[in-house]
Amino acid sequence: MPINRTTPLRVAVLASGRGSNLQAIIDAIEAGQVEAEIVCVISNKKDVAALERARKHGLKDLFIDPKPFAGRPDSRETYDRALLDVLQQHEVDLVLLAGYMKIVTAVLVTAYVNRMMNIHPSLLPSFPGLDVQKKAIDWGCKLAGCTVHFVTEGVDEGPIIIQAAVPILDEDTPETLAERILIQEHKIYPRAVQLFAEGRLKVEGRRVFIDAGKLTDEAIISAV
Ligand code: GAR
Repeated sequence: MPINRTTPLRVAVLASGRGSNLQAIIDAIEAGQVEAEIVCVISNKKDVAALERARKHGLKDLFIDPKPFAGRPDSRETYDRALLDVLQQHEVDLVLLAGYMKIVTAVLVTAYVNRMMNIHPSLLPSFPGLDVQKKAIDWGCKLAGCTVHFVTEGVDEGPIIIQAAVPILDEDTPETLAERILIQEHKIYPRAVQLFAEGRLKVEGRRVFIDAGKLTDEAIISAV
């Protein structure tokens, strides 16, 4: 974990679409709330808004096309090897998956143990995977939320860093609930990055402890 750094934390963001979480992190860095530098934004999809957002802020944007790797039994691993090369060339300290809709393999996970985070729009371990806002409504949950966690080989399974909860209202649709959750995503992801930058995250097994310089309830951010 980086403590007492003299240079900013070097971050890569991997995104496949809209990039609103990327934007939240860019904004937090530009506002001085997160002490980090985004050294590249990488996508497995061409022409996505996330790459456009990166360009708008003068950040390096890269599209790594999965097509040349397709059709081989180890296509996911070879893709990740190419991605890892890029991350290493950029001397990346921390990798952020932000709406990155591609399962990462052991190639990346082992290179970035406890140095790769993901944001997921549910209160894990409930509802990993896709369409999770609909699943939470259909299940009859009263609370939903979002989770920032370290990435392990199991999808949406890694040690939980921060979660935020929101109510599920009777009239909610998956879209209205997703909007409410997204507001919290944009708060907790930059916060998790800053905690990492400050060297305050300690991982013990499945548990992530936030080293408290002061008394804090950051592990449980509840919100309306
Ligand atoms: C976010 O809601 C994020 O939590 C979700 O995709 C959306 C991306 O939005 N990620 C996952 O479902 C990963 N399992 P964004 O592109 O605007 O950040």
